[in-house]
Amino acid sequence: MTEYSTILVSTDARVGKITLNRPESLNALNTTMMEEVVRAATELDASPEIGAILITGSDKAFAAGADITEMAEQDHQGMYAADWFRRWDDLTRLRTPIVAAVNGYALGGGCELAMMADVIVAGEGARFGQPEINLGVIPGMGASQRLTRSVGKAKAMDMILTGRRIHAEEAERIGLVSRVVADEDTLAQATKVAELIASKSKPAAQMAKEAVGAAFDSTLHQGLTLERRMFHAMFSLEDQSEGMRAFREKREPQWRHR
Ligand code: HXC
Repeated sequence: MTEYSTILVSTDARVGKITLNRPESLNALNTTMMEEVVRAATELDASPEIGAILITGSDKAFAAGADITEMAEQDHQGMYAADWFRRWDDLTRLRTPIVAAVNGYALGGGCELAMMADVIVAGEGARFGQPEINLGVIPGMGASQRLTRSVGKAKAMDMILTGRRIHAEEAERIGLVSRVVADEDTLAQATKVAELIASKSKPAAQMAKEAVGAAFDSTLHQGLTLERRMFHAMFSLEDQSEGMRAFREKREPQWRHR
């Protein structure tokens, strides 16, 4: 298994778990962590043994944002030359469904990382926010686009212009998170969700993710056409035959993930 310095990686029951692990800075996302998260997730994504990826942090913080200490010394030339944050795009191109288990702070880049996941399970004490305006900047890891597409202009403008933090309950109400659970249950519930997704036919789950993702990125007509073409293509999968045969034979399907 690859060695990492800022994350912990484990696998169980077709789920690959990535735990952000810089407790001294509330999991502030520095360049090393970005590289490690993306590298680990890419390896998990490529494994036929993995059907879902779970990303989590600590009880106090999922992640309190991009690392301000690292960014503070940067200038435009350095940011532009490194194309700061671009590597995160690679995470969003992975095809394996990603579940985020969020307790505590998910601020700035932490909220944006959670939004790169496909399903967010939050503890009731979780706090989401885009406080970049208080640092004299704007979000740089996707919030102006992903938050706006998820919750609409009214709430996105409110959060991004004021920098206010919202509770998990409001985050669920406005469509930012999928489920809210008791803080002590967050990881267990998110793991259950990830295991359930991982127990499905992998190509079906991947295509479902791709089709829903297209709703963020295309016109309605393009998205509907993509969905229909993917639906047609699934009739070349062994899992499609097996799933429908199992239903008719009144038994559980035995997925072959192809
Ligand atoms: C670097 C951070 C950090 C961060 C916390 N720490 N957040 N270090 N980058 N984003 C460090 C603190 O400096 C401190 O280190 C330690 O973690 C514990 O934090 P405290 O502030 O002492 O904890 P607490 O009082 O409980 O407050 C928690 C907090 C606060 C409310 C989350 O830390 C906070 O406001 N953090 C910044 C949140 C933020 O602005 N995030 C957005 C970043 S910008 P020491 O060494 O003092 O113990 C971003 C987008 C970038 O993400 C895009 C624009 C380019």
